[in-house]
Amino acid sequence: MSGLLAGKRLLVTGVITDASIAFSVAKLAQENGAQVVLTGYGRLSLVERIAKRLPEPAPVIELDVTNPEHLAGLADKVREHVDGLDGVVHSIGFAPQSCLGGGFLDAPWEDVATALQVSTYSYKSLAVAALPLMSAGSAVVGLTFDATKAWPVYDWMGVAKAGLESASRYLALHLGKQGIRSNLVSAGPLRTMAAKSIPGFEQFEDAWTERAPLGWSLTDQEPAARACLALLSDWFPATTGEIVHVDGGYHALGA
Ligand SMILES: NC(=O)c1ccc[n+]([C@@H]2O[C@H](COP(=O)([O-])OP(=O)(O)OC[C@H]3O[C@@H](n4cnc5c(N)ncnc54)[C@H](O)[C@@H]3O)[C@@H](O)[C@H]2O)c1
Repeated sequence: MSGLLAGKRLLVTGVITDASIAFSVAKLAQENGAQVVLTGYGRLSLVERIAKRLPEPAPVIELDVTNPEHLAGLADKVREHVDGLDGVVHSIGFAPQSCLGGGFLDAPWEDVATALQVSTYSYKSLAVAALPLMSAGSAVVGLTFDATKAWPVYDWMGVAKAGLESASRYLALHLGKQGIRSNLVSAGPLRTMAAKSIPGFEQFEDAWTERAPLGWSLTDQEPAARACLALLSDWFPATTGEIVHVDGGYHALGA
């Protein structure tokens, strides 16, 4: 198999529909020579059905990143399909409704805690769960939405993403000695299931389509997926703790 990821073994989380960023990553990775194992959360039969739309059949392992047993058993389950991992993709985010859409001042801690556990802490949990399978040259890649700014309606998810961006830098620090990299792709708005659950998400859509210097497609996951592939590949061997913006250049603008 030839391609950017020829011979690489990847664990890809976060596929729930074929609009998921993770689906594009898995598809493009297979097209570029990688062997892909998926994890699915909740509606496993749906994930399995979506997985059949990939160029190659991919096994699906159940993983709720808040479930300690799932995390503890992950490496053994992955080993049933591949003998190691060259890359792990974290494409997971969730916040209860109270945390989004303008409710910043009222969201209760229990809901904020859920958002942080699923969207921030899980980045570390997933990496540690997969660590027994990784070695020097392996990479962890996650997805963020520019957390250097406060956005209307993003609220506690924005705080969770700020934490994720920091967690990626700390993962880079703590896994660097083992030669394992951690990087994030900061994507512009894309119409996925997670995005549709954010009340007022269309505000992002309008801003991006009107202002992004390169223009922006709300339905094209491939640019973000390509960046994930690049970071998983051997072409960023000395890059870790980095955030690559795939947002049509929006982050570079002033107000
Ligand atoms: N869509 C956007 O506009 C956008 C922009 C920037 C970053 N992102 C990020 O991209 C990532 C992927 O989201 P997406 O937009 O592809 O949406 P998506 O809804 O397709 O994917 C989100 C995934 O998170 C999974 N998930 C939720 N709770 C989980 C849990 N407890 N354990 C394991 N998995 C769980 C869901 O099953 C789903 O597969 C998220 O981190 C999201 O914040 C999205």
